[in-house]
Amino acid sequence: MTSVMLDEDVMRIALIVGSTRPNRSDVELETLDLRDWPLPFFAEPTPPVFTGGVFTHPLAQRWGQKIAEFDGFIICTAEYNHGPPAVLKNALDYAMKEWKHKPVSYVGYGGVGAARAIEHLRLTAIELRMAPLSLAVNIGFEAFLGVLSQGKSLDDYPYLIDARTLMFNQLVWWARALAPARAAHTLSTPPI
Ligand SMILES: Cc1cc2nc3c(=O)[nH]c(=O)nc-3n(C[C@H](O)[C@H](O)[C@H](O)COP(=O)(O)O)c2cc1C
Repeated sequence: MTSVMLDEDVMRIALIVGSTRPNRSDVELETLDLRDWPLPFFAEPTPPVFTGGVFTHPLAQRWGQKIAEFDGFIICTAEYNHGPPAVLKNALDYAMKEWKHKPVSYVGYGGVGAARAIEHLRLTAIELRMAPLSLAVNIGFEAFLGVLSQGKSLDDYPYLIDARTLMFNQLVWWARALAPARAAHTLSTPPI
C-alpha cells in the first residue's frame, strides 16, 4: 500500500494494490506528488514537438527522467470547473516522449467523481500518444464527504473496491502488453 498523508484535515488518499494473486507481485507502486515537483507554468521557448521533447527547465528535465521510469500511470485528479487542475495539465505538458505508448488510468474525486476532468485528461493522453483506459475509480460526493468528515475509509464503499480491482487489472494488462512493444520499436520509427 502506498499512502499519501496530507494535512491533518485533508482527505488521506491511498493507492492500494488490491490483488494478492502471485502474478500481481511484480507490480510496484510509487506516488508522485506534484507538491514535490513545483514545475513553473509552462514557459519553454520552443514547443517540445520541435525539440524532440527536450525541455530547458532543469526541473522539467528531471520530471521527464522520472516519468521515463514507469510502465503505466494512475492519475489521481480533482475537478476544477469541469476540467483537471491546471497544475496537473501543466505537469503533463512538461514531458513528451516519456509518456509515449504507456497506459494511464484515472482516480477522480468530487461532485461526480471528477468524471468531466477525467474526460479532459483522456483527450490530452491521446495527444501524448498514451493509451488512456476506460475503467476509472470515481469517488463521488457521498464517499468524498464520508472520508473527509465522517471518519470513513474508501474501503467502506464496495463500489469503489470493485472499481479499483477492475481498473488495476486493466492497467496491468495494458502495461504488460505495451512494455515489450516499446522495447521492440524505437519511439521515433515509425513516427506515431
Ligand atoms: C477552482 C475550483 C473549482 C472547482 N470546480 C469543481 C467542479 O467543477 N466540479 C466538482 O465536482 N468540484 C469542483 N471543485 C471542488 C473540488 O472538487 C474540491 O474542492 C476538492 O477538494 C478539490 O480537490 P483538492 O482539495 O485536492 O484540490 C472545485 C474546487 C476548486 C478549488
